[in-house]
Parts: sequence; structure tokens; C-alpha cells
Amino acid sequence: MSNKRLSEDQIKYEFSLTPSDFNRIRKLIREHAGISLPLSKQGMVYSRLARRLRVNGLRNFKEYLDFLAQGDAIELEAFVNALTTNTTAFFREEHHFPMLKQHIEQRKNKNKIHIWCSASSTGEEAYSIAMTMVKFFKSLTPPVHILATDLNAHVLDKAAQGVYLMNQLDKFPRDYLKAFFLKGTNQNSGLIKVRQELKNMVTFRKLNLLDDHWPVRGNFDIIFCRNVMIYFDKETQYKILQRFAPLLTEDGLLFAGHSESFLHARNLFRLREKTVYELSGQRNAPCD
Ligand SMILES: C[S@@+](CC[C@H](N)C(=O)[O-])C[C@H]1O[C@@H](n2cnc3c(N)ncnc32)[C@H](O)[C@@H]1O
Repeated sequence: MSNKRLSEDQIKYEFSLTPSDFNRIRKLIREHAGISLPLSKQGMVYSRLARRLRVNGLRNFKEYLDFLAQGDAIELEAFVNALTTNTTAFFREEHHFPMLKQHIEQRKNKNKIHIWCSASSTGEEAYSIAMTMVKFFKSLTPPVHILATDLNAHVLDKAAQGVYLMNQLDKFPRDYLKAFFLKGTNQNSGLIKVRQELKNMVTFRKLNLLDDHWPVRGNFDIIFCRNVMIYFDKETQYKILQRFAPLLTEDGLLFAGHSESFLHARNLFRLREKTVYELSGQRNAPCD
């Protein structure tokens, strides 16, 4: 091994991150994305932000935080993006998709079904919903519109491109692969692209769930909000749920992530089954 290579400790302490810096980071990410960072995440924060310090030629986290405090919008966005987790997968939490179909069965005669995928990351969730709808309606142009939003513009760009690694679809049934994806050739081999018909069903837009104004209109038949509330504290979750409620149709459903529970908002939503919620009656005026 080359003795020029940095030891792990040297890499770890390339930049100093004091408890006071860490608290400033926690405050800032909470203000801008609603994310509550536990103290145990110091190592994760260090490794995700160290690159930003290098890119900006800064010597320590204090300098970086002072730079952010000057209000550089581009760096602030990079900071938020670095601290958000974008893990997702096609047909993640598989049990939700038969439930989605069942719900649509009851409203298949509607002119248009509106679904909001509110933390869509790189698009796998929105396209899984789109595939489910195509299969259900046996049409590549089902009467369904999916609004897919996220606060991270980079993941949304990737989502809109709809290009994924072939090996992400290892466990996909062959008929789904054939029906919904185009296989890359030559320099694109190993990649697959979502078919245009699926893309046509989805609109990707930037939206921060923490913003005062959401440029969305109800009435959604379904809202997917999976694996993002887990990063928010209960108070923030409640405020968001309060704003979701009037955006849903009266019999609409809210799909949550596997480790998310909204029992603390039971005046707004009640559990129907396995992380799927329905309105419990109390709704506020819709927000614009
Ligand atoms: C772990 S991914 C979940 C993706 C997908 N919903 C799923 O379950 O597979 C969480 C996503 O939430 C987004 N996110 C985090 N904070 C957000 C906020 N305040 N508003 C909107 N999206 C946010 C992140 O950018 C990330 O793409």
C-alpha cells in the first residue's frame, strides 16, 4: 500500500466539524427541508458535506457555514441536496400496488384519476404507479395523471429522463420489461429507458413540502408520500398532513412508507390497512 495514501483518520478529520458547526447544520437543514438530524448522524453529515467544502475551497465547516449564511442560493441547494437521502426502487413496498389497483377499481369510470407522488426522488415510484395503471386499464393511455414532486432538482432531472441501469430491474417480470422499457444498445448497453407513453402520464415538478405555497391543486384520488416523513419531526409531519387532507377527494387514500405512522394525526387520517391511510373526517380549507 502506498505510504502517500491518507489514513482513515486523516480522511475523517480533513476538515474540522465542531459540535457548534453540527448544530448550525442541523438548524439549517431543518429550516430548509424540514429534516430533523439526530446527533448520531454527525459522521454521515461529515462525509456528505466534505465534498462541498472541497468544491468551494474552504478549510473547515465554520467557513462553509459562514459562506452559506451569506445566502448563496446555489450552494444552499447543493447543501440541502447533499443531506437528503434519495434511495428508492421500482415497486418498493410491493403490497401497496395491489391496494392501489383495488382503489382505482372503484373509480375506474371517472374521467380522470389524479395521483400525487410527493417525494418522488428519481422517478421509480411514479413510473411504478404509471405501470400499474396501464396494466389495470389495459391501455397505454389510461385516464390517469401523476404529479411527481421532490425538492431536489437533480433527482427530478433524472426522473424526467427515465433512464435506469438494467440491473435495477433484475427482478422485474419479463413482460413488464418488454412492455414498458426500451433497451439501450452500443454505448447505452446496460441501460434501459422508460417508454414515452409512461412518461406522458407523469409531470415532474420541484416542490418542497415545507414551502408555504404548494403549486398544486386538489382533488387527488391518491397521495403517495412514502419514506420522507420519517425525516421530519411529528410537528412538521402534522402540518403537512393538515395540508394534504383538503387536497384529497373525500374517499382518497394516502400511502405512507413502511416505518411511518400517522397515529398522532388521527383527527385527520385513520389507518385503513398496512401504512395506507384514509381521511378521518376533519378537513381544512384547501390551500392554493
Ligand atoms: C428516501 S426518498 C423516498 C423516495 C420514494 N418516495 C420512495 O419511497 O421510494 C426521499 C425523497 O424525499 C425528498 N425530500 C426530502 N425532503 C423533502 C421536502 N422537504 N420536500 C420534498 N421532498 C423532500 C428527497 O429529495 C428524496 O428524494
